[in-house]
Amino acid sequence: MSDSDGTEQGGLDGTSVTPDWVALREDDGRAYLLNRAAGEVKVKGLGRFDAGQLLEGFSVGDRITVGQKSLTIVDAALPEARRNMNRRAQTIGIKDSGFLISWMGIGVGSRVLEGGHGSAGLAMHLANVMGSKGCLISVENRAEHAEVGRSNMERMSEFAPEFPNWHLLEMDLSEVAGEVAEICGELDAAIIDMAEPWTVVPEISAIVKTGGRLACYCPTTAQLEKSWNAVEEAGLIVEFAGEIVERRWSKAGRGGVRPGNQPMGHTAFLLLAAKIAPKLDEN
Ligand SMILES: C[S@@+](CC[C@H](N)C(=O)[O-])C[C@H]1O[C@@H](n2cnc3c(N)ncnc32)[C@H](O)[C@@H]1O
Repeated sequence: MSDSDGTEQGGLDGTSVTPDWVALREDDGRAYLLNRAAGEVKVKGLGRFDAGQLLEGFSVGDRITVGQKSLTIVDAALPEARRNMNRRAQTIGIKDSGFLISWMGIGVGSRVLEGGHGSAGLAMHLANVMGSKGCLISVENRAEHAEVGRSNMERMSEFAPEFPNWHLLEMDLSEVAGEVAEICGELDAAIIDMAEPWTVVPEISAIVKTGGRLACYCPTTAQLEKSWNAVEEAGLIVEFAGEIVERRWSKAGRGGVRPGNQPMGHTAFLLLAAKIAPKLDEN
C-alpha cells in the first residue's frame, strides 16, 4: 500500500501500511499522536473528537486549534511517540538508549534481544534504527507490562518508515534461549533491564555471537557490581562500566546562557561487555 506521495511505511513483520498517523505538538514539546482514520477518539489532554473531521483540510506543518490548545501538526516520529507513550514500568530514555545503541553497534539488520520489555521505552529506540531487515526480540514476564509495551510498539509500527521483524516473548528471560535460536539464530546484541540482571547473564551471554555485546542496565551500585562479576564469570570482557551524565543549560533572565536548575539526575549505571573467543588451552 502507498499514500499519495508513493511513500510506503513499515508495519509489523514487514507489512506496508498507509501513513495515517500525525502528531499534534504543543509549543513546549508535549505531543499527541493521532490516526486520521481512527474515527471518534478520546485523547488524554485533548479531549474527545472525530480525528478525520478534525484534521480535514489540514496538513503536516499547519497550526491547528483543539479546544483551548494551539498545536502544530508534525510527522509522527520517535520523539513524539516517546512523549506520548503509555507507561507502566520505568523506561530507558534518550540519553542511555542512544549510548547503548552506538556503543553496541546496533543498526540496520541487527539481531537484538531486549528484556524486560516493560513499557517499550528502549525497544522503541531500537526499532527506530534497525530497519526492516533487523530482528528485535523483546522479553517480558509480566502480562500487564507486556500489554503496555505492545501497545506502544504496535502503534509505532504503523507510522515508522521501516520497522524490524519484532517478537514479544511473554516469558522469563532465563528461558528464552531456545526461542531466540529458532527466531534469529545468534544475537548481535542483548540488553538486560530487570532488577537482577546477573541472574540471567549466563543464559543470555550464551546466545550472543562471539564478537557481539551484552549490556546490563543497573540503577544501583550493588546491581552493577553483581552484574560485572557475572559477565566476567561468563567469559565476557567489560568494555564500559559507568554512567552517562546529562547537564542541561538554559537562557539566563539578563542575557547569556548557563547551566539550568534541573538536577543532574542519576538514571542508571551501564555495563557493556563484549563476547570474545574462549582462551586456548595453555597445556
Ligand atoms: C524497568 S522495566 C523495563 C523497562 C524497559 N526496558 C523500558 O525501557 O521501557 C523492567 C521489566 O523487567 C521485567 N522483568 C523482571 N524480571 C524479568 C525476567 N526474569 N524475565 C522477563 N522480564 C522480567 C519486569 O516485569 C519489568 O517490566
